[in-house]
Amino acid sequence: MGRSQILLLCSLSLCLSIAVADWNILNQRTKNGLQISLRNYCESWRMNVELHNIRGFEVVPEECASYIGKYVTSTQYKVDSERAIEECIVFLSTSCNLKKDGKDAWIFDIDDTLLSTVPFYKKHHYGGDKLNMTSFEEWQSESKAPVLDHSLRLFNELKSRGLQIFLISSRREHLRSETTKNLLSVDIHGWTNLILRSHEDELSSVQDYKTKARKELINKGYRIWGIVGDQYSSIEGIPNAKRTFKLPNPMYHVC
Ligand SMILES: *[C@@H]1O[C@H](CO)[C@@H](O)[C@H](O)[C@H]1NC(C)=O
Repeated sequence: MGRSQILLLCSLSLCLSIAVADWNILNQRTKNGLQISLRNYCESWRMNVELHNIRGFEVVPEECASYIGKYVTSTQYKVDSERAIEECIVFLSTSCNLKKDGKDAWIFDIDDTLLSTVPFYKKHHYGGDKLNMTSFEEWQSESKAPVLDHSLRLFNELKSRGLQIFLISSRREHLRSETTKNLLSVDIHGWTNLILRSHEDELSSVQDYKTKARKELINKGYRIWGIVGDQYSSIEGIPNAKRTFKLPNPMYHVC
């Protein structure tokens, strides 16, 4: 998360209006004449964001903002997240031959991975409004983001198995103490390092910044077994982890 620079990096022409093109509000048909409801349209939009077919959008399409709001506050969102976390634990139990030498590592993103930004987005039409980075950072600095319970469970499971946990976030360095305070307040503690974005890192894309951070960990001898993130920019790029896991997030896209 965190996007002052990122929006610049997403090509403007791509970012702006991918959305509205495919559904005609007046006759409720797709381009090819299929008769659909607004729910069909918005669910398809959401699904294609998760599939990483729709990228670089700056706002959720206006007509889908309330649908996206319902999703991120629904039981379905919780079930989807819980399932992703369950798959992490299956992977840990079946496919990770941990060496337990202090070099087994796991990476988490923070926003919408460990902490939820839904309370902020609730005030901004669930991604229907263009992000105001100033007010977003003001909200982050209140340190009141709620925890995502299933992710906390994985965090504790990893800790109990002796993995070193790295938090790699696109939050900026100046939010370090507020971020730490927020994490501790929801019982997230015991990570090995919290990596935030320096001024220099802001010049590159989030994906490049996160890739570079992984490279440094690998150079220090860590074996990165897994990454959990809500954005493809947290889980794509080389070097990578043995497995990556994507949590749902249809509210925004970070390049
Ligand atoms: C962004 O948020 C800040 C702080 O809440 C506010 O002062 C500013 O006017 C907002 N900018 C825009 C473009 O809405």
